[in-house]
Amino acid sequence: MDRRQFIRLAGFMTASAASPILLTACGGTDSALGPTESLSPSSSPNPMQYQFPQGIAAGDPRSDSIVLWTRVLPRNVDPIASQGAAMNSTIQLLVTEGDPAGLTGSEGVITGKVVANVTLEALSEWDHSVRHKLTGLAGNTYYGYQFIVNGSRSMVGRFKTAAAANADLAQLQFAFLSCQDWSIHHWGGFSQLLTEDLDFIVHLGDYIYETIGEDFQTGQVEARHGALKLPDGAFKAGNSGARYALTLADYRALYKQYRSDPRLQQVHARFAMIAIWDDHEFSDDCWGDATTYDNGTYDPQRGGDNKHETTRRRSANQAWYEFMPADIVFDAKASSFHTVRLYRDFQFGQLMHLVMTDERLYRADHILPEAAVGSSVGSRYLVPSQQLSAVEAQKMAIGKAQGDELALVSILGKTQRDWWKSTLKNSKAQWKVWGNEVSLLKMRLDARNLPGVPSALQQDLVLNADQWDGFNAERSDLLQFIRQNQIKNVVAITGDIHSFYAGVAHADYSATPPNTPALIDLVTAGMSSDSFYHYFASAVRDPALASAQALVFSSEAGAEQIAIQMLSVGIAQQAGVSDLSNSSQVSAAVTAAIQAKIVPAQAFVATAGLSRSEVNTFNDLLGGQLGQTIAALIANLAATKKSIAAQTLAGFIAQNIAQKVGGGITAAQIPASQVTPFLNPFANPTTGAAPVNNPWIRYADTDAQGYAVVKLTPTQLQCTFRKINPLQNGQVPSQIIMKDTQLSIQSGVLEVKVN
Ligand SMILES: [Fe+2]
Repeated sequence: MDRRQFIRLAGFMTASAASPILLTACGGTDSALGPTESLSPSSSPNPMQYQFPQGIAAGDPRSDSIVLWTRVLPRNVDPIASQGAAMNSTIQLLVTEGDPAGLTGSEGVITGKVVANVTLEALSEWDHSVRHKLTGLAGNTYYGYQFIVNGSRSMVGRFKTAAAANADLAQLQFAFLSCQDWSIHHWGGFSQLLTEDLDFIVHLGDYIYETIGEDFQTGQVEARHGALKLPDGAFKAGNSGARYALTLADYRALYKQYRSDPRLQQVHARFAMIAIWDDHEFSDDCWGDATTYDNGTYDPQRGGDNKHETTRRRSANQAWYEFMPADIVFDAKASSFHTVRLYRDFQFGQLMHLVMTDERLYRADHILPEAAVGSSVGSRYLVPSQQLSAVEAQKMAIGKAQGDELALVSILGKTQRDWWKSTLKNSKAQWKVWGNEVSLLKMRLDARNLPGVPSALQQDLVLNADQWDGFNAERSDLLQFIRQNQIKNVVAITGDIHSFYAGVAHADYSATPPNTPALIDLVTAGMSSDSFYHYFASAVRDPALASAQALVFSSEAGAEQIAIQMLSVGIAQQAGVSDLSNSSQVSAAVTAAIQAKIVPAQAFVATAGLSRSEVNTFNDLLGGQLGQTIAALIANLAATKKSIAAQTLAGFIAQNIAQKVGGGITAAQIPASQVTPFLNPFANPTTGAAPVNNPWIRYADTDAQGYAVVKLTPTQLQCTFRKINPLQNGQVPSQIIMKDTQLSIQSGVLEVKVN
């Protein structure tokens, strides 16, 4: 093919147009290839064999274009290490019409009618990666593709283009995923993903993790995922021994190692991907070019500040560009770290408009700087809501004086925010799906009146201020815009938080009751990353936080301890003890009650042999009624007569209820279902009503890995959360799926149903 037919885009993205009829093999004659003719490339005197060690990939399907990707090197060189210019090669890309079906993912010879035959160069400048944008394609159509160098063939890939924006489309099916930490758990989910019938895949970020040996990466991992190597990686401060990607070579090395997994390669061969990044493509909880490995320095004049690493950010950008098949431009000449623009949109007929946002590159500092608080706890995690909104208001006042009220409190930045608004407002599609990295659902813990919780935690807290909860004003601005403009059927698809959620995002979460619904947020768990639950569970295993443990997990034995405390407090109250925090007065009342034979002494002794297996109570905190699992555990201990404490407590409650009912009703006649709510240590002791922290959350599974599949029609969006089984004896489980949860949203209805 004549090189002049290329449009050479900035940052070595080449482009060419497909021809429906005529294309010649590279270096061959001008004769047209018919549908059945051989597609063998020209022979070469050079006998060198080549490898495609990171497979192939297709990305950003539009109605007339696609981006195709590979990386090629001579077969005898290290597939991960970067190589010099001597390893450059010329590579042929063939694109054929139709689904290559059984050939997909194999290294067979691609067949079919050729629509493009393009010559490309794999250069050391881009680590021998190649990306090519092919235009002139037909909409809603399958194509096959293969790269060939000197007779060595990549595997055969396939992709499906999007339907033209004005086309009627009856159905669309896609998966969304995030958080695929190589170093923990397993990637069996990718094997499962291969079996799905999908038009494309959306990746919401954390495609790589920039660290190795971090606390959250030290759990068990499948045997085939060996230790990752960083050519230059720097040690993190402190003595954790963890290292992080520092240089371009490091970031490249991570993509190359992650992409060496054959399951991930097969997924890329089968489905085009639309990817955005989150924090770990650069640095944990990053904003702009700033990192949060330490708490930064505090300057009362400027506010606190994290460490800015512009060169490192630019390297991270470049590696993402080199390895992800995205229709974006990389501008190495750009000043600062704005070398890429990732936010972009896609149309799939009249059925769906997909709007992908970048929630890291233009982000302002966290509202409460770590440096001011001295710790990530209190600034990014478990943040007092009142303090958060007070500081946000201060920053908005400064921003207002400078011309943009949201400038210092923004995730999107003004340009992207304006683009987001106009894109959504002008969209004619039935469904507007927002590829959004961090959850829009408020995740709060109102611990102001919770018994037993450490006093430092007895506040109204947001669990994670790195997500939209930490940028409430901008969230309100966006969601208010949706409401004011009556934009219907907006659904966010989200990753980041390593757990599944579904709920209704509100423009104003402080309204009581919440009455400003704007969109539905569907949040997928990580593909492999350690769960949100795990982070909190390991925190409250620390004896210093033991009194907050019941908010995260309990057990049979733990629930019995709670029953003993509740019983003791109840007895002390009846005995007239006014200060229930005075443990000697409480225990004196208990001793007196035992001596008076009001309660058996065994009711205050832990039962031997009760299970200590952790039972998740964090789901109740996030998306249910706080304490309901503990109440159920105590009720079960009572019903099965496994614990005298539980039986005694349940008996007293039944007696109380019977007394209130009166009319000769006895405790034995009170059904267990009426007793159970009062076994909840967090419930209102008079009404039995349990606290609900987040009434907008309809579903929460905080301890999960998996991905989500969406099936879209004009009338309905159906989503399946596919939760996957953990490692079994260090091996990938033979049965990958543990549980499917079906969710549905009806067109025109701002609600998500859990089926
Ligand atoms: Fe993640």
